[in-house]
This record gives sequence, structure tokens and C-alpha cells, in this order.
Amino acid sequence: MNVKEVKVYSPATIANVTCGFDVLGMALNEPVEKMVLRKSHYPGVKICKIFGAELPLQYDKNVVGVVIDKILQHLPNNKLGIEVEIYKNIKPGSGLGSSGSSAAGAAVGTNFLLGTNFKPIEIIRFAQEGEKIACDSMHADNVAPAILGGISLVRSYCPLEVVSLPSPKKIWATIIHPHLEINTLEARKVLKPEIKRDIAIKQCGNVGALVSAFYREDNCLLSRSLVDYIAEPVRSPSIPEFDEMKRECKKVGALGGGISGSGPSVFMLSEAKDTAQKVANSMIKRYNKLKIDHNIYISTINNTGVKCMFK
Ligand code: HSE
Repeated sequence: MNVKEVKVYSPATIANVTCGFDVLGMALNEPVEKMVLRKSHYPGVKICKIFGAELPLQYDKNVVGVVIDKILQHLPNNKLGIEVEIYKNIKPGSGLGSSGSSAAGAAVGTNFLLGTNFKPIEIIRFAQEGEKIACDSMHADNVAPAILGGISLVRSYCPLEVVSLPSPKKIWATIIHPHLEINTLEARKVLKPEIKRDIAIKQCGNVGALVSAFYREDNCLLSRSLVDYIAEPVRSPSIPEFDEMKRECKKVGALGGGISGSGPSVFMLSEAKDTAQKVANSMIKRYNKLKIDHNIYISTINNTGVKCMFK
């Protein structure tokens, strides 16, 4: 099959899923971003256009460019070239896995366009290079679920091992993105370098129980497990009225939630669409009162990961 051009759709993700710092991530059906990858006669990567965000066109400063370049460097044929158009629909610095989505789309799209047949774990590794350039960290909790779909658990970083977990069928996510930008690199600097034993014990208990809740579709256990002792206490002060908003969302029926990735987006999980809508209304009301511009999304879990369509 000689594919000349591919349209790539890459999902947003909720990294950490509250208690799984750097190890858990969930892909969403909304929002999704798009890029077009085309074979070119000129070797290397050329980023032709970027819509929707001010990001560098210079390939080695752009997540998409870096990932494609890493794949091209890996191949024996050094004459291959790819042109890219990027349509950013997930705002950088939103906490919705914007760089992860770009990196995942670039890696899956290039593999598809060139017919290179890399294994999913290899594609995740290429995509991690995009995260490295975006925030100097190779966390895989955005790129893995964006690539694989569903919920991913990073069992180990070295060597990389990713476990796909079952997606509970009834879960709806409500996400509010207040229009403040939080840089992941900065948000990682506020984290304490060491974790005390009592915190580690509580956090391990919650991660294990959350994984079990996904398998058993036990939403009561899921609700009790969505507690974070590591990132939320130090990151949430940057998010306006985070605690109040969370409390109110639970009052209208949300199971629980937290900061999406490094923020400022906040997510809540519910077991029905109408509850997810009530949660959205409550979030919107709060941020309207505070006159904070925002986007709101209500989404199910994306179980397919990055999708490629070709002519
Ligand atoms: N696990 C990462 C963090 C996700 O919380 O810093 C960033 O999107």
C-alpha cells in the first residue's frame, strides 16, 4: 500500500487520573486534534503550517517535528521526507495532554505513512521524545493512552512497560479548562523531591484500588480511590477555587476527580451522562462567577487511540 498522505486524529488525555502520578492516563473522545502528514521529495521534516496555536515551525523545536525526525533518523533510508500541517485543537499548557497528543499523532501517523510497522511500545518510545522537548520529562502517561486508547498504566519506565487497563463502560468525564496556562516543566518543579513513607503507603493503596475498580467496574471503590497525596496538594493552589469546585461537583453526583495532568484543567468522573452535565453546569457557574474564561468538555473514554485516515 503506497500511502502519500495521512490525516491523523489524536485524543486529549487525562494524565495521572488523580492518584497515578506519571503512571496512569486515560484517553478522551473530546477534544481531539488533527494533523496531516505527507510524503515529500525533500529528505527530513518540514512543518508547513500550524493552525490554532503559536508554536515553532522549526522542526527541532516542535514536538511533532522532533518525533518525526527521531523516526526518520532510525530508518536506513536517509532520503525520506515528510511535510506536516498541524491543527492544534488542544491548547498547550491546558493539562489535557496537548504535547502528548501531538507527539502521539506524529509517531503513529509517521509509522502509518511510511508503513514501518513499529510495535506499539516502540511508537510510545518515539512519542516520549516529543514530551522530552516539550517539558524536559519523558513521562508516558499522556502518550501511552493517546496511542493505545483507553486507560494505560506505566508499570516501568526503564525498561518501558505499559499495561492497558479495561475502560469502565459507564464512565463519563467532565473537564473544565480555565484559560490560564500552566507549564508542565514548572508544575513539576513544585513537587517535593522525596515522598514520606506514610504518603507512599496511602498513594499505593489508592493506585492499586483504582486499577482494581477499573477491572471490577466498581464505581464506589473508584470514588474512594480518587485521592492524591503527591501532586494535588502542591499544584491545586494555582487553580482558582479548586477545592470548592471539587466539593460542589461531588455534591451534584460526581464520583471524584482532580487535576488533569499538571493542570489547570480539572476533571470529574461520573457514571451517567446527565450527572456529567450537572457537574459541567456547576463548574461553569463557578468560573462564570469568577469571570474566568474556560472551555468545557463532556466525554466518554476514547478506546481507539490515534486514528489515521488516508486517501
Ligand atoms: N504526569 C505528568 C505530570 C503529566 O503530572 O507532570 C503532565 O501532563
